[in-house]
Amino acid sequence: MRPLLFAANWKMNIGPAEARTYLAAFTKAYGRHPDREVWFFPPAVSIEAAAQTIAQRRDLRVGAQDIHWEPKGAFTGAISGSLANQAGAHLTLIGHSERRHVFGETDAETGKKVTAALAAELQPVLCVGETLAQREAGETVPVVTRQLEAALGGRDGKARVTIAYEPVWAIGTGRNATPKDAAEVHRAIRAWLKARAVTAPPFVILYGGSVNLKNAAELLAEHELDGVLVGGASLDPRGWAQLVRTAAG
Ligand code: PGA
Repeated sequence: MRPLLFAANWKMNIGPAEARTYLAAFTKAYGRHPDREVWFFPPAVSIEAAAQTIAQRRDLRVGAQDIHWEPKGAFTGAISGSLANQAGAHLTLIGHSERRHVFGETDAETGKKVTAALAAELQPVLCVGETLAQREAGETVPVVTRQLEAALGGRDGKARVTIAYEPVWAIGTGRNATPKDAAEVHRAIRAWLKARAVTAPPFVILYGGSVNLKNAAELLAEHELDGVLVGGASLDPRGWAQLVRTAAG
């Protein structure tokens, strides 16, 4: 069975005390499966509580939702990779659609953040994806390739970077990409990663955008998908445990 990755993006939900309660319920409902890892991306204030609560479970990991590219300094409201690491994060999302489209994060900034994450010993999960207008104009692969090139193209190392393909039109809309549509973009991403050789294999590519208990198994039956990045459907610990348990590859 191929290993599968289930990433929960809590966005601006679940404070520290709630994170402890959530993870106690989750670990009770979900025992370790050798072929699965579950990653949690709490808001920054809850990273430490989350990391402490699951410290005994090697199959569960915690990450930041975003980091600044500078290691320290006068950046009110931001956290650095090192601060996230000190709080117990092992991973960080970079370039999530909401960072790009709500907060105006640029392609160039995602590149600086990838470098900063690796310097702070956080594994980056780089999010890429096209808007509806770009998809309808047939620009999906060029857009995603541009985002990959900006974030990773300048690298000469072979760092481990996970990619999350999240079409903007599918996030929080209840409208997910079909397994076939997602697979097509995943193939293009995998081809780019292999050809450019700026990240280390295995090339792990997650799909995100309105994944839920009903569609997860069908999406993960598509072998191009190595896992899922889930927002809304990860907020209830028992529902999320059920999704991780039942969505076998
Ligand atoms: P969603 O969010 O599952 O609520 O669509 C996914 C994401 O933004 O990572």
